[in-house]
Amino acid sequence: PNYISVSDLANMINLKIEKLTRDLTKMGFANVTHNYILSKEYVELILMNYNYQLGDHALAVTPENVYDELRSPVNPKNLARRPPIVTIMGHVDHGKTTILDYLRKTSIVSQEHGGITQHIGAFQVETPVSKRKITFLDTPGHAAFLKMRERGANVTDIVVLVVSMDDSLMPQTLEALKHARKAGSQMIVAITKIDRISNVKEREKAIEKVSIDLMNNEVPIERMGGDVQVVTISARTGENMNLLEESIVALSDIMDLKAERGSNAVAEGFVIESEVKKSVGNVSTVLITKGLLRKGSILICGNTYCKVRSMSSEQRVSLAEAGPSTPVEITGWKNLPAAGDEVIQVKSEAIAKKYVAKKMAVIQTAKESKNVERINEQRASEA
Ligand code: GTP
Ligand code: MG
Repeated sequence: PNYISVSDLANMINLKIEKLTRDLTKMGFANVTHNYILSKEYVELILMNYNYQLGDHALAVTPENVYDELRSPVNPKNLARRPPIVTIMGHVDHGKTTILDYLRKTSIVSQEHGGITQHIGAFQVETPVSKRKITFLDTPGHAAFLKMRERGANVTDIVVLVVSMDDSLMPQTLEALKHARKAGSQMIVAITKIDRISNVKEREKAIEKVSIDLMNNEVPIERMGGDVQVVTISARTGENMNLLEESIVALSDIMDLKAERGSNAVAEGFVIESEVKKSVGNVSTVLITKGLLRKGSILICGNTYCKVRSMSSEQRVSLAEAGPSTPVEITGWKNLPAAGDEVIQVKSEAIAKKYVAKKMAVIQTAKESKNVERINEQRASEA
């Protein structure tokens, strides 16, 4: 937060760079160019000259927010309904993977294209009846999600809390509950493995037990006058799996999930996974949260950028464009981006390069100023 370039300062106070450069030269600065870096102390003096109040945050350029100015402000006119983004959570062995596999297999999207499904960390299904899309994120425990959660960037709209009928609530169920509450996600409970008891009365009893356990843990389920839907399913036989999907759609309608789509908005998203593949090089799965991504779009992410060379769905279907809530596999990255990092669209490779360099410089400055602080503290303690 201690340095700013002349061009950024000009931007900040809405002054032409040429005018600011001239004024600075008049003030006694030598060899001023748009790249010229000013320290905080100088900036305060300069701003006083311009009669400008320096807010506390005005100069707080941090490695985390360097790219923020690239975003476009939300234009309500571009808002459109988007599919919900759902993660499945629950205790070990309660059946999360089996549910995801079932949804993958039966998803109309994959049947239509008949492709071989590859696991790319996120996938989309279309519901059989209402023909609505739902985006599922895989393995919410993994690094990308932890990182996003740490930053308060919660991409999950809905958590499906999976509870095995024969086990009821277990330690990791309660953990998942805590996470969902903390993240402010909406929740649906899926009581699963109901095929394990064929006797209807026995089954009812087991489900009743889970319901009571849920209430005792302050989950306001519908049956008890709350608003949390409960569906009883078997991912093995497929029983009621369509109800699970329709419950998700119903909840997402209530939530009125929207995002800007279309190329008027700067596209944004998150890296879900990334890896180097022998045949194509750096590949990442990106979940788009805003805007419209196309082949040839330029994306910036962490310390790297990408000119989108290819874009495909989980079914390896090549996509010409992709909008909010769509997970896509992208190639064309200069370096491998990190899972959990944010992706922002820029207009040109030149801008991408400029901002990556800027971010690196800010990181360096942050490091240096930490060093200076440490040295000063050390000296103060020695004195
Ligand atoms: P972790 O990833 O280890 O936390 O487990 P998980 O929650 O992904 O559970 P997984 O889907 O691997 O299922 C655990 C076991 O339960 C497997 O043997 C599944 O075949 C079985 N199972 C899952 N769903 C059902 C179901 O609906 N009915 C029956 N009978 N068995 C199921
Ligand atoms: Mg699993």
